[in-house]
Amino acid sequence: MTTERSLVLVKPDGFARGLTGEVIRRIERKGYRLVALRILTPTREMLGQHYAEHAEKPFFGELVDFMSSGPVTAIVIEGNQCIAGFRSLAGTTDPTKAAPGTIRGDLGRDWGQGSTENVVHGSDSPESAAREMAIWFPDL
Ligand code: RTP
Ligand code: MG
Repeated sequence: MTTERSLVLVKPDGFARGLTGEVIRRIERKGYRLVALRILTPTREMLGQHYAEHAEKPFFGELVDFMSSGPVTAIVIEGNQCIAGFRSLAGTTDPTKAAPGTIRGDLGRDWGQGSTENVVHGSDSPESAAREMAIWFPDL
């Protein structure tokens, strides 16, 4: 079976703009199931773990500053191939280039920091999903 879970974040820009409901609406219309949801302002320590693969990237500091700037909605979704399916719903990283019809393409834009503020995060592999769910939902 290919049933799997993915960790989705509505990032601080999306939360502040009141887009959590719109993101959830798209996830549910697609057919994925919501497993868990919480609202929290992540600590820099959590974000260091979550974005460990990007620790050496030039945008890392700006990314952690942004992601710790306010509440996010963390969501675990479930469904066959939902990791790839949500990445498809989200669109490409840069919201300026993301295709219309996608979350980032329809709801995101460059607000002065390029690709940093792009509304959502979605796990990119089963290994990432398992690692990320342990950070955001340690009791799940
Ligand atoms: P995500 O992890 O948030 O689902 O996004 P992604 O896979 O599409 O992008 P990734 O390469 O994993 O980068 C993680 C997040 O870092 C910010 N970023 N900024 N300024 C830049 O060039 C840049 N590149 C990436 C974005 O917030 C991206 O989602
Ligand atoms: Mg990523």
